[in-house]
Amino acid sequence: SAPGDSCVERTFIALKPDAIQRGLVGDIINRFERKGFHLLGLKFVQPSRQLVEKHYEEHLGRPFYEGLVNYMTSGPVLASVWEGKNIISSSRSLLGATDPSKAAPGTIRGDLATQVGRNLVHASDSPANAEREIGLWFQPEEVQSWSRALKKWIN
Ligand code: TYD
Ligand code: MG
Repeated sequence: SAPGDSCVERTFIALKPDAIQRGLVGDIINRFERKGFHLLGLKFVQPSRQLVEKHYEEHLGRPFYEGLVNYMTSGPVLASVWEGKNIISSSRSLLGATDPSKAAPGTIRGDLATQVGRNLVHASDSPANAEREIGLWFQPEEVQSWSRALKKWIN
């Protein structure tokens, strides 16, 4: 295996309903592709309340929870799985701070959003949550596994 392969991780990225409604799908996906991450799975989901409640179970009881569940079930979500070196922390950097008004220019939220309750995109925050979220949103056969073979052609 190539040097650095031990840092190759998978993560779950979701484009929230406002990203779809605002026509920002191409812009957001392009940022992950330009970074060099590999897209392994992509599909529209109209999530049930139950799915969103499981996804955000760590936030149950917080004041923003009800509004968050309503927002996430308000329209289609574009669910995706990506792979890359240190992708879990790196994708959080691409997103920027949770509150777009505090997110740096150059980040997705910093460039494209203004409100914490409409912050366009989700990214897993740890390896354990990445595994958990990929399993919640995707069947194993919906996730490609050819990125390591692809790397042999590209690198
Ligand atoms: P969190 O997991 O803290 O943020 P992130 O998406 O950066 O991992 O919160 C989940 C979502 O909840 C967040 O993307 C937007 C919403 N939220 C609010 O609406 N208000 C808040 O004060 C917080 C902390 C989050
Ligand atoms: Mg989070």
